[in-house]
Amino acid sequence: MDAAYKRVNGDHGPDSSTEETGTRRRRGSMYLEEETSNKSEVISCLFSLKEEVGALAKALRLFEEKGINLTHIESRPSRINKEEFEFFISVDSSCSKALDEVIDGLRTEISGHVHELSRNKLKDTVPWFPNDIQDLDRFANQILSYGSELDSDHPGFTDPVYRKRRKEFADIAYNYRHGQAIPSVEYTEEEKGTWGIVFNELKTLYPTHACREHNRVFPLLEKYCGYRQDNIPQLDDISRFLQSCTGFRLRPVAGLLSSRDFLAGLAFRVFHSTQYIRHGSRPMYTPEPDVCHELLGHAPLFADSSFAKFSQEIGLASLGAPDEYIEKLATVYWFTVEFGLCKQGSDIKAYGAGLLSSFGELQYSLTDKPKLLPFDPDKTSLQKYPITEFQPIYFVAESFEDAKERVRKFAATIPRPFTVRYNAYTQSIEVLDTTQQVRNLADNINTGEMGILCDALRKLE
Ligand SMILES: [Fe+2]
Repeated sequence: MDAAYKRVNGDHGPDSSTEETGTRRRRGSMYLEEETSNKSEVISCLFSLKEEVGALAKALRLFEEKGINLTHIESRPSRINKEEFEFFISVDSSCSKALDEVIDGLRTEISGHVHELSRNKLKDTVPWFPNDIQDLDRFANQILSYGSELDSDHPGFTDPVYRKRRKEFADIAYNYRHGQAIPSVEYTEEEKGTWGIVFNELKTLYPTHACREHNRVFPLLEKYCGYRQDNIPQLDDISRFLQSCTGFRLRPVAGLLSSRDFLAGLAFRVFHSTQYIRHGSRPMYTPEPDVCHELLGHAPLFADSSFAKFSQEIGLASLGAPDEYIEKLATVYWFTVEFGLCKQGSDIKAYGAGLLSSFGELQYSLTDKPKLLPFDPDKTSLQKYPITEFQPIYFVAESFEDAKERVRKFAATIPRPFTVRYNAYTQSIEVLDTTQQVRNLADNINTGEMGILCDALRKLE
């Protein structure tokens, strides 16, 4: 079967080879300690001081007196009180007890100057997540397999030419960085032949089995992105097309990412896509995602505005979520983006990429053999499923908008002490965990989109 495969749930931190230990990242107006290194835990604090000569030196003296070595210090003007500066410091966890004394000292000896001092309470509970779209570079190569490393039951396992080819594709992804054009690939005649077989077979089913959104976009991909029986489209062409439609973009990936990483990409409207093709000996089978699965199954739907929003909603829900919720969200992803069915008028059609890229399962899914249940993230997220055979159960969405709202409600049940919002202008995540940030958001809504909406409505009237 052709399927989705993003099944390995894992926690991780940023790539330790490129980051200092105990890395922290700025999230909106507060700083979170993200990671415990394998050497020692880092504790981070935030405090404010009035802007006056010697205030910082006085505060730092307290650290010095207690023998605390600061591993990091940053400052910035306070957003809350313009007469103050905020300082973010990190210390080794072995200094924890002494730090308590310093905190007391700051409160008493610099009385009146300490506006706020908080040891980060989230550090033990909030896993690291990317803040900026460039942060996706940090985990893009934390993959579960690489290039030519194929399982013994893979059709290409004993084919040295195929393995060498897979390594070439893996290297492209490995060297890719956000913002670069995705390198074009000269596909071989054999690879194009494999694509052609899959393309032809599936195209005959789409008019009757695929959802209307897929059928609406597919001709556009043929027109603008080189979707043809004798041509394997280039990721970069599709990525640029998707960006013009919904802001979604593709990024090459060398192997399987963890669910946490893969879902995080969706929060930025980034879809990690393979570029290699399945082994030519079995054109209708692949044990892993390949370019047929990505380009025929996934890509068309990311050009649809409602589906793009729905997909991003799953991604946003995953940021900083506990491991058990990552697994639930990965299951929701499985039963929607990969194997989802949806109502369209009185019909039911397929929108999941695992179905739209599998000739056999696409037909099977719309017969009376599988069991159909309404999409409900509370229940869907707990449903077990097989990964090596056709699904016995599919979940049917009322619409992408309805599915998005349901995911949003489900996300609200995820235990995390903040709300996130994607800022498309800065391509970054805003963590709404202070009243000031929420106030800023309210101001933006008032003066931004809401104002435009009111003006537009007035003019229409
Ligand atoms: Fe997939």
